[in-house]
Amino acid sequence: MQKVNTKIVKIDKQNIDEDKIRCASEILKKGGLVAFPTETVYGLGANALDEAAVEKIFEAKGRPQDNPLIVHISHINQIKHLVQSVPEKAYKLMEKFWPGPLTILFNKSENIPYKVTAGLSTVAIRMPNHKIALEIIRNSKIPIAAPSANISGKPSPTYAKHVIEDLNGKIDMIIDGGSTGVGVESTVLDISTEIPVILRPGGVTREDLLTVFEQVTYDAALEGNNKELIPKSPGQKYRHYSPKAEMIVFEGEVNDIIEKIKIMLEQYLYKGMKVGIMATKQTKNHYNYENVIVVGDRENPETIAANLFEALRQFDKIGVDIILAEGISEKGIGKAVMNRMKKASTKRR
Ligand code: TXA
Ligand code: MG
Repeated sequence: MQKVNTKIVKIDKQNIDEDKIRCASEILKKGGLVAFPTETVYGLGANALDEAAVEKIFEAKGRPQDNPLIVHISHINQIKHLVQSVPEKAYKLMEKFWPGPLTILFNKSENIPYKVTAGLSTVAIRMPNHKIALEIIRNSKIPIAAPSANISGKPSPTYAKHVIEDLNGKIDMIIDGGSTGVGVESTVLDISTEIPVILRPGGVTREDLLTVFEQVTYDAALEGNNKELIPKSPGQKYRHYSPKAEMIVFEGEVNDIIEKIKIMLEQYLYKGMKVGIMATKQTKNHYNYENVIVVGDRENPETIAANLFEALRQFDKIGVDIILAEGISEKGIGKAVMNRMKKASTKRR
């Protein structure tokens, strides 16, 4: 791939510099790539209606060709051009959760290139809840296809520095708008069946969705250990979010987790390996050891979601050989956190 000169610009989301937004929009309109913050993770944007521009996203990320992209909009009016019809269920969801971390699947119109949907007849759409993202979409007047702005397989970026690590020299512009907030990606929801199905757990929880629908299920391929089932969201097939080190996630009762991690720690240290422990505010003092990263507070799992990807990247920086990670309860946002941890890990205990 040809090396490009990546412009890195800071934008304060409380006081947006419109000149910088215009500059980003011009790049997008000309078919270039711009990374920008959303409320979940940083996205790598291109004009969703321009097949050649979208192709560049796959190239820059090293993304598998069969993994479709999410199209981002800033106003509900934009949707008509992109989909065949808007079902009643979608109206309810958009009213309640947009702008926000919910991605809804629709039957695509012919305006959306198959490159965006990786050949599927459905298109994933969301309206991000972030002033900078919304301003860019509004200003460019185009729908923006944007996956997370990381190299495929690595943890998603929650700070501009993560995007710079992965994509500097590969894309036209990186907008530094600070940390993202939610920290895990949007929920991907299929509403084509009578009971809506969560294909990827994310920022809008099943509990949130149950305020709109009587029933909501998870894609069976996300549950249990049946490897025969193929996830309906292609992105869920791959090992993902992965630090360089091997990672083991420990599930169960918290005191058992601590005991198991201590035993494993001794075993790996004995083998001469450099170990990292991903702990929580409540448990950190149980480990008398240097490479402990506190990912957040068990009582407030939103803090864990917000810090998870940064913690995984920190372990890479320390250069550990193996990460022993405490699992958390799968209630609320915990479901999305555990989904990412399991995907990042090689083993579960
Ligand atoms: O929060 C987010 O969703 C972030 C920000 C940037 O908006 N974006 C993001 O995109 O996480 P990405 O590409 O990293 O993940 C998109 C997920 C993948 O798992 C993909 O397979 C799924 O959405 N997806 C996209 N279109 C789909 C479709 N038509 N049917 C099923 N799954 C789809
Ligand atoms: Mg991603």
